[in-house]
Amino acid sequence: MHTPLLHNKRGLVFGAVDERSLAWATAQACIDNGAKIVLTNTKMAIELGEIARLAASRNLPLIACDATNIDDLEHLLTEAQQLLGGQIDFVLHAVAQSQNLRRHKSYEEASYQYFLQTLDASALSLHKLLQTALRMDAIAEGGSVVTLTYIASERSVLGYNDMADAKAMLESIVRSFGRIYGERKHVRINAVSQSPTPTRASAGFDRMSYFYRLTDELSPLGNATAEDLANLCVVLFSDLTRRLTMQTIYNDGGFSRTTLTERFAETYSRATDAEHPAK
Ligand SMILES: NC(=O)c1ccc[n+]([C@@H]2O[C@H](COP(=O)([O-])OP(=O)(O)OC[C@H]3O[C@@H](n4cnc5c(N)ncnc54)[C@H](O)[C@@H]3O)[C@@H](O)[C@H]2O)c1
Repeated sequence: MHTPLLHNKRGLVFGAVDERSLAWATAQACIDNGAKIVLTNTKMAIELGEIARLAASRNLPLIACDATNIDDLEHLLTEAQQLLGGQIDFVLHAVAQSQNLRRHKSYEEASYQYFLQTLDASALSLHKLLQTALRMDAIAEGGSVVTLTYIASERSVLGYNDMADAKAMLESIVRSFGRIYGERKHVRINAVSQSPTPTRASAGFDRMSYFYRLTDELSPLGNATAEDLANLCVVLFSDLTRRLTMQTIYNDGGFSRTTLTERFAETYSRATDAEHPAK
């Protein structure tokens, strides 16, 4: 029998709020691959979401933490190490929120108060987590940190709003802190750029179901699912990827390298033929 990829590894998972959360799929795959984990989310998400019930169903500790608050992060990292019995081997940062998006404020009319909150929650929270972990020496030598991003960081995407700027900053933090944490502690830091996936956060985007179908047709392998992401994270948290760091890894069925697919061309020509039938 093979030893599971995450045998004896201790993990901390941010961002699972309900069954559809990318973080919940990843947490389960980590446990199934031999890891011990602690879950965390904001107090509000724990009170309003389904995560307390889900955590109990798998006997997982759940600690409240606002990832933008340094005191909360210190408390979380102390508690998590105690519960796990040592330094943390891997972290999933699956944290994002935009009040501009939620309140349907368009990019050109964005509220700057919300804009700063978006950057703080969706990008700076990774910096705050890494800075606190480095200061407390909470992540073990050779550990692995993964954050989740989206291609709107580098290409303009209709409706993605200020979250696009947050994702660009997030990917930059991955590179900047990746060098520092790599040299000091051999800790890897990577971002996974995931296909649109139906979750609570993605439901905030206008035209999500249309967008989901569109990217699926424009991806040679189709959209990557939450389960695909979970499997990739297991590999990134494992010792198989010990020298992979500071990257944005595209888990998107080939979308980021594609302009046109046969499937999309067929759908588009059918729609065009229906609109302009031959005379
Ligand atoms: N679903 C997609 O299509 C998609 C695609 C690419 C990237 N992503 C990214 O994946 C990550 C997870 O999102 P998801 O789609 O699973 O949705 P989700 O709503 O399940 O997860 C987002 C999580 O962020 C948490 N959060 C927000 N502010 C926080 C804070 N201050 N402190 C701690 N936690 C906070 C929320 O409580 C929630 O659990 C996000 O970074 C998102 O941008 C999602």
